[in-house]
Amino acid sequence: MVVGSVLVTGGTGYIGSFTALALLEADYKVVIVDNLYNSSDEVLNRLELISGKRPQYYQCDITDEKKLDQVFDEHPDIDNVIHFAALKAVGESGEIPLAYYNVNVYGTLCLLRSMQKHNVTNIVFSSSATVYGDATRFPNMIPIPEECPLGPTNPYGNTKFTVETMITDYVNSERAKAQKEGKSGDAFNAALLRYFNPAGSHPSGIMGEDPQGVPYNLLPLLAQVAVGKREKLLVFGDDYKSKDGTAIRDYIHILDLAEGHLVALNHLRSQHPGVRAWNLGTGKGSTVFDMIKAFSTAVGRDLPYQVVGRRAGDVLDLTANPTRANKELGWKAKLTLEDACADLWRWTENNPQGYRQQPPKEFIEA
Ligand code: NAD
Ligand code: WQD
Repeated sequence: MVVGSVLVTGGTGYIGSFTALALLEADYKVVIVDNLYNSSDEVLNRLELISGKRPQYYQCDITDEKKLDQVFDEHPDIDNVIHFAALKAVGESGEIPLAYYNVNVYGTLCLLRSMQKHNVTNIVFSSSATVYGDATRFPNMIPIPEECPLGPTNPYGNTKFTVETMITDYVNSERAKAQKEGKSGDAFNAALLRYFNPAGSHPSGIMGEDPQGVPYNLLPLLAQVAVGKREKLLVFGDDYKSKDGTAIRDYIHILDLAEGHLVALNHLRSQHPGVRAWNLGTGKGSTVFDMIKAFSTAVGRDLPYQVVGRRAGDVLDLTANPTRANKELGWKAKLTLEDACADLWRWTENNPQGYRQQPPKEFIEA
C-alpha cells in the first residue's frame, strides 16, 4: 500500500538518496528529479538492490520550470516535495555566487511556482546549520537552538537563508489566501531542516557519498587518505578554544538524517504546523582530532595528518541543540560516530571508484 507520493529533488545525491531509501522503505511512492551534476544514476540500482523498489527518475534541472511542470503533470498523485537539489560548496560559492543564486534560489522559485500550479502543498527543505553563521557570538546559544539569530557568512549560506525566507513567505501567503476563502489553509506546510554535518554510509556497503569532484568535507577527505588517494589530512587549526585545539562539529549519521526527513514529512501531513524550522543534529560535538581517531579505529591503523593554519570562514563550534526535533517530531539520532566511521570505511573499501563500478557480486546475485 502506498502511503503518499513524494517528489525528491536532488534525489540521486548523498542525502537525497538516503532519504529516498527511507521513503521507499516506508511505502511512499518516490519520484526523483536530478540533473546528475554531482551524482550518478547508478544510485537507482543501489536503491533497488537494498529496498526491492525502484524510484521513478527524471533527468531534470530544477531551473527548467517547464520540465518540472511535465513531471508533476505525469504524476498528479504527488502531494509532497522534499527539496535537496542545490550547489553546496561553501568556498566555491564565494567564487561563483551567481551560479549558487541561480540553482539554489531561482531553482527553488521554479519549484515553488510549479508546485503552486499543481496544488502540491507540503515541502521539506534542505537548509543547513550554515544559516546560523558564527553562533559562538552568542555564548549562551551553544549548542545552537533554532531561536539562535541567523547570520550566514558566505554566499552559500545566504542562498539557504534566502530560500528559507522565500518558502516562509510563500506558505504563509497561501495559508492566508485559503483562510480568506473560508478554508483552513492547513494543507500548506513547510519544514526547514537545518542539518549539521552528515556522516557515514549504508551498513550494506553499497550506498554512500560519491562526490563528483574533489571533496572538501572532513570525512570524505579522511577516507581518501585511508585508501592512499591522498598522502595526509591537513588539520585546519589547532588553536581553537576546544579540549584539543581543533574545531567542534556535530556529525550525524546519514541514516538518522534520512529518518529525520521522513518524520518531518509525516509531521507536516498529520499535524499541519505551517512553517517550522528543526535542527537535525545529535547534540554531541566532536573535534577534528576526535574524528581522526574514530576513523583510524574503523580503518584499523593510524591515519597521517598535519596541522596547518585555520581555514577561512571556519568557526569554533557548530553543535546542534536538537531538543525541538526530539520533542515535536519524536525524532532522535540513534547511531554513533563509531557506526558512521565503520559504515563509511565499508563503503570506501567496497567502492574505491564510488558508483562508477558494479556493486559487489553477492548483491547482484542475491
Ligand atoms: P549532493 O551534491 O550529493 O546532492 C545534491 C544533488 O542535487 C546532486 O545529486 C546534484 O546532482 C543535484 N543538483 C545540483 N544542481 C541541480 C539542478 N540545477 N537541478 C537538479 N539537480 C541538481 O549534496 P548533499 O550533501 O546530498 O546535499 C543535499 C542538500 O542538503 C543540499 O541542498 C545541501 O545544500 C544541503 N546540505 C548539505 C549538507 C552536507 O554537509 N552534505 C549539510 C547541510 C545541508
Ligand atoms: C569539518 C571540520 C574543518 C577538512 C560544511 C559547510 C556546512 C555544511 C556541512 C552544507 C572543520 C575541519 C575539514 C580538512 C579539516 N554543508 N577540516 N581538514 O565546514 O563544518 O561544514 O559542510 O550545508 O555549511 O560549511 O564541514 O567537513 O568541511 O569540516 O581540518 O581537510 O573539519 O576545519 O572544523 P564544515 P567540513
